[in-house]
Amino acid sequence: MVDGAAGVEARVKDDFYPSTPECTAVLLPHIKDFPHRVWEPACGDGAISEVLHGAGYSVFSSDKIDRGYGDIHDFLYSENRPFKAIITNPPYGNGLAEKFIRKAFELGCTHVAMLLKADFWNSRRNGLFEQYPPDQILALDWRPDFLGKGRPFLNVSWSIWRPGTVETRFTRAHRP
Ligand SMILES: C[S@@+](CC[C@H](N)C(=O)[O-])C[C@H]1O[C@@H](n2cnc3c(N)ncnc32)[C@H](O)[C@@H]1O
Repeated sequence: MVDGAAGVEARVKDDFYPSTPECTAVLLPHIKDFPHRVWEPACGDGAISEVLHGAGYSVFSSDKIDRGYGDIHDFLYSENRPFKAIITNPPYGNGLAEKFIRKAFELGCTHVAMLLKADFWNSRRNGLFEQYPPDQILALDWRPDFLGKGRPFLNVSWSIWRPGTVETRFTRAHRP
């Protein structure tokens, strides 16, 4: 989000809020059980993909918008999945985050990590939570500066899904 006229918040075009490298770095110790071939289906300019590459993952990257990185592809129209694991910071506006979660499971993905607003699960999403309860919520103990303007505005958490979930665990990640 950016400050618009009269202090009204306006969203960045196409919800392009690139993750800072720390966002992905703190996830890594928590996904050691994930396959090493993963799909970043809303890759933007590769902010998450590059950290995953650096950590030894093989990453297939795609985005609806051509940002000079990865394949150009609308995730919500995917009919096949390149890999069973997804790691992304999806678009949030217009219910897109929920659509991304549902699509990931419709495609048969088994291991999924999505960076979501910290209050994503607080209201309105009972049906989604009951159908697809995350195994783990990993709350970042700082606000990432998505726009690089020195005014971070959003608390975020990783929601992590994996097979065999019994009950959702709440954990916290310290800024590296
Ligand atoms: C919040 S940004 C995050 C970008 C990247 N995942 C990161 O963490 O830096 C969301 C991205 O989703 C992309 N996006 C929006 N709708 C999409 C769709 N239907 N399919 C694929 N990508 C989409 C946007 O172009 C944007 O790059």
